[in-house]
Amino acid sequence: MENLDIVHIPILKNEIINYFDTTEKNLFLDCTAGEGGHTYEILNHFPFSKLFLLDRDPDLLDRAKRRNIENIDRILPYNINFSDFSSEKLSENNIKGIDGILLDFGISMYHIKKSKRGFTFSGNEELDMRLSPDSKKTASDVLNYSKEDDLFRIFYDLGEENWSKKIANAVVNHRRKNPFRTNRDIAELVEQVIPRKFWPPKVHPAFRIFQALRIEVNDELSHIEKGLNNLIPLLNIGGIICCISFHSLEDRIVKNIFKKHKEEKVVEILTKKPILPSDEEILINSASRSAKLRVAKKI
Ligand SMILES: C[S@@+](CC[C@H](N)C(=O)[O-])C[C@H]1O[C@@H](n2cnc3c(N)ncnc32)[C@H](O)[C@@H]1O
Repeated sequence: MENLDIVHIPILKNEIINYFDTTEKNLFLDCTAGEGGHTYEILNHFPFSKLFLLDRDPDLLDRAKRRNIENIDRILPYNINFSDFSSEKLSENNIKGIDGILLDFGISMYHIKKSKRGFTFSGNEELDMRLSPDSKKTASDVLNYSKEDDLFRIFYDLGEENWSKKIANAVVNHRRKNPFRTNRDIAELVEQVIPRKFWPPKVHPAFRIFQALRIEVNDELSHIEKGLNNLIPLLNIGGIICCISFHSLEDRIVKNIFKKHKEEKVVEILTKKPILPSDEEILINSASRSAKLRVAKKI
């Protein structure tokens, strides 16, 4: 196999395979290809299956395809947003419904460690944070052109950052002389605004601000909501949908949409409480520590 130097470890993969094992196992949809780790597991566990593979980031879709090159004839790749996936794609391929859908939200380790788009706190990279090159605004545009009130809302609503007001004010003062250009510009400003005694113990103090900027630039939450509402109807009866979220904003959307579909008698919820990674998994892959898996079955 080509040496791709994969940096993303797929999360809760055994749990997901076990849920998918209860379905017909013919047709899967991996909505968030990333580096193709979950796709690899699915295609190898279910050797007669086919899989739609999506990523809005063309670089990641390409990496996922190259990682799964030995099964490429069973992959139907699309460089699109999962919120735009519709029954048209099924009929184009003479397919009636899907047996298993996976959504593994957010960004991959590749984005943080290798993309050079400013997702990391370290180094000095352009503060871009766009997942798709078609998105209009970058993270530095958000910092340089948003009104102070809007910055506050972004930091508070999307980052759940208690220091949002002070940080929004500091951003507006800073950009008068020095427009934001790199990840270091904003990371250092947040380090100055939040007193050291209030820094979180294990993560960078700008962690929440980076999360907020990323969600805003890519409009992540509305795509999750629109996506789930569009995707659940594509499942065959007995089909399974698995969602891995990484913060409470994502998890709340999944929980509410599953609940709504349960009330409409469209799905049965298989996870009363979300499934968390084991201590062992967190030890091997610390990036999994905030993951929550919710699963529903079409009825
Ligand atoms: C956590 S990673 C997935 C990792 C993957 N499961 C693996 O094992 O390597 C999330 C991926 O979803 C993509 N993504 C995020 N939001 C998306 C959306 N709305 N539509 C399509 N792809 C999206 C990101 O570009 C990223 O590559």
